[in-house]
Amino acid sequence: MSEKNFYITTPIYYVNDIPHIGHAYTTIAADVMARYRRMTGYDVFFCTGTDEHGQKIQQSAEKKGLTAKELADKTMENFRKLWEVLNISNDDFIRTTEKRHEVVVQAIFKKLMEQGDIYKGTYEGWYCIPCETYVPESSMGEDKTCPDCGRPLQKMEEESYFFRASKYADQLLDYYEKNLKAIMPKSRYNEIVSFIKSGLRDQSVSRTTIKWGIPLPGDEKHVVYVWFDALINYLTACGYMSDPQKLEKYWPHVHHLVGKDIIRFHCVIWPIMLIALGLNPPVSVFAHGWWTVEGEKMSKSKGNVVDPFEMVKCYGVDPFRYFLLREVTFGLDGDFSEQAMVQRINSDLANDLGNLLNRTLQMVKNFRNGVIPSYTSFNAMDEDIKECIVSTFAQVEEHMSNFAYDEALKSIWGLIRQGNKYIDETMPWKLGKEGPEERLDTVLFVLAEILRATGLLITPVMPYAAQRLWQQMGLPGKPEDHSICGYVFGEFPAGIKTAKGDVLFPRIDLEKWKKEKAEREEKKNSMPDPGNHEEQILIDDFTKVELRVGQIVEVEDIPKARKLYKLLVDLGYEKRTIVSGIKEHFTKEELFGKRIVVVVNLKPVKLCGVESRGMLLASGPADKSTLALLTPDKNIPLGCRVS
Ligand code: ME8
Ligand code: MG
Repeated sequence: MSEKNFYITTPIYYVNDIPHIGHAYTTIAADVMARYRRMTGYDVFFCTGTDEHGQKIQQSAEKKGLTAKELADKTMENFRKLWEVLNISNDDFIRTTEKRHEVVVQAIFKKLMEQGDIYKGTYEGWYCIPCETYVPESSMGEDKTCPDCGRPLQKMEEESYFFRASKYADQLLDYYEKNLKAIMPKSRYNEIVSFIKSGLRDQSVSRTTIKWGIPLPGDEKHVVYVWFDALINYLTACGYMSDPQKLEKYWPHVHHLVGKDIIRFHCVIWPIMLIALGLNPPVSVFAHGWWTVEGEKMSKSKGNVVDPFEMVKCYGVDPFRYFLLREVTFGLDGDFSEQAMVQRINSDLANDLGNLLNRTLQMVKNFRNGVIPSYTSFNAMDEDIKECIVSTFAQVEEHMSNFAYDEALKSIWGLIRQGNKYIDETMPWKLGKEGPEERLDTVLFVLAEILRATGLLITPVMPYAAQRLWQQMGLPGKPEDHSICGYVFGEFPAGIKTAKGDVLFPRIDLEKWKKEKAEREEKKNSMPDPGNHEEQILIDDFTKVELRVGQIVEVEDIPKARKLYKLLVDLGYEKRTIVSGIKEHFTKEELFGKRIVVVVNLKPVKLCGVESRGMLLASGPADKSTLALLTPDKNIPLGCRVS
C-alpha cells in the first residue's frame, strides 16, 4: 500500500451558530491542504461536519421552539451551503446525529468500560454551558465566570462516568517527546506538554442533566458527554468499525486542523482516547489563531460577525480564500478588515498576478499571433528564472508541510514579482520591434513557463482563478489534474494558442468601494437577522399557492387509519374531500362546522385509499403535543382567497 496517504479534518462545528469567517478560515485552510496534497501525489481523505448534540444545542432549540434535531437539520444546511460556496472539496460530511456515528460512540464507550478505562463516580463542579465544559475553580474568572467566554458558570453535581485519562499521561508525554511536530505551532506544543506534566485528572464523559445526546449503552439515565461524542467523529468518518481497510489506509496519516480554543481536547483527551483504543495519536494537530474584526472580538451582541457569504458575494471566493491565508501567519491571531482585503486584492492579485498574465498574453498576441513560441537557448537571466521556479516549488513544499500557508504564498508571489521584473528587464516590446526574433521567442517562452508554474502553485488556494489562467494560456485540461511535483521547466507545450480573456482580478476602485460598503452596512442594520441563509422566495412563488377559506361540513373515520379523518370541505363554489392527519388532536364535534384555510391547488393524492384534494393549515410546537387549526377571525364568505 502506498504510504502517500493523507487524512485531514476540520473541527465539526456546533449547529447552534451561523457560520462566520472563523469557521470559514479553518475549513479553507484544510481545503487548501487537501488540494495541495492531492496535487503532490497523495491519496487524500478530507472530512468536515457538524457537532449536533449537547446542552448548548438543546437550549438554543428550546428558545426557538424547535426540537434539537429540527434545529440541527436546519442549521447544518448553512454550513453545507457555505462549503459549496467556498469551493470546499471535502470527501465526507459527518453529522454526529447520524446512525453510523452513534453506533461507533456507543461501541467505543463500551470497549473502554470493559477494559476498565471508564468507571462510574460523581461529579461536582462549575460548568460553562456555552463552552460545554467544567471549569476548575483555579481558573474561574471573577464572580464565577468562564475564563474563556466570560459568561456565568453554573454549579452542577451529577452522577457521572469518568475516563481514566491520568493513567495514560506518561505514554502521551512519551509520544510528544518523540514527535516534535505532533502539535504545531511550537508554542502550543510547549503549552500542552507542560500542561500534561502538571498532572491530568480523569475526565467526566457522561451527563444525566440533559437528554440531547447519545444514550449511554447499559445506563440510559446518561447520555455521552458531547466532547467525547464529538471527537470520535474523526474515527467514524475514517471507517472505524465499518471499513477496516479505509481505517488502515488513512488513520496512520491523520492531521487535525483546529482553532486554539479547542487544543486541550485535541491534544490531551483525544490522543489518550486513541492510545486507550490501541490506535495511533494524530500525526499532527495544528492550532491556528483567532480572528478579531477591526480590532474587536467577534460577537453577535456587538453585531460585528463577518458573514462569509457576504464576503464572497462582494469580493469573490478566490480573493477571500487568498486573503484569509495570506494576511496572517498561520498559528497567530489576526485582525479582519475589508479594507485590508481590498488592498491585497489590488496589490497582490490585480497588480502582481493579473499584470503578469496580461502583459504576457498581450505581447504574445501582438508579436506572435497569440501562439506561445518555443525557445532557442537560455541565457543567465533565463537560468535565474528557472532556478527561481524550481526553488519556489521546493519552498512551497517545505512551508506546506509545516502548515505555513502565508509563507508558501509569499514564496509564490516572490516568483510572480520576479516574473514582472523579468519583463521590465528583457523589454519584449522592444525585442518585438527591433529583434532579435529568437530572443523574443525565448523570453515569451520563459514567461509562459512562469505562468504555468504559477497556475499550478496557486490552484490549491484559488482553484477558479488558476483554471482561468490555465485556459487563457491555452493549456489543456485543468491545472488541478496536473501534479505539482511533476513540473519540469522547459516542457511548456510551445505552439499552443493562447486565449486572452477577461482580467483575472479587476481592480477595486476605492471611492466606489467605500460608497458601496456604507450602503451595505445601512441595509444590514435594517435587517433583523443577517447571515441566516434560509432560502428566500419571491412573492410570485408565494402566490403560486392558492389558499382559500372553507368550512368543514362532514367528518368521517377512515377504516384502519389511526391518525386520519376524511373531511368534506365546502369552498362556496364546490365541496371537496380532504384527508387530514389531525385525528389525534380533534374530536369530530370539534371539527364540524369549523372555518379553516385550505391549500386548494395541491396535486391530489390517495391516502389510505381515499383521494385527498387539498390540505388544511394547522400549527403546533415541534414535539407535536398539541395542534391548532388556522381559522379566519371574521365571518367572511366561503371561497375567499387568502393572501
Ligand atoms: O468547538 N477565529 O465547535 P465551534 C478563528 N464543536 N477560528 C474560529 C473563530 C475565530 N474567531 N471562531 C471559530 C466546537 N473558529 C466543537 C468542535 S471537534 C471534535 C468539536 C473556528 O462551532 C476554529 O476552528 O465552536 C474553532 O476551533 C472552531 O471554529 C470552533 O467551532
Ligand atoms: Mg466555540
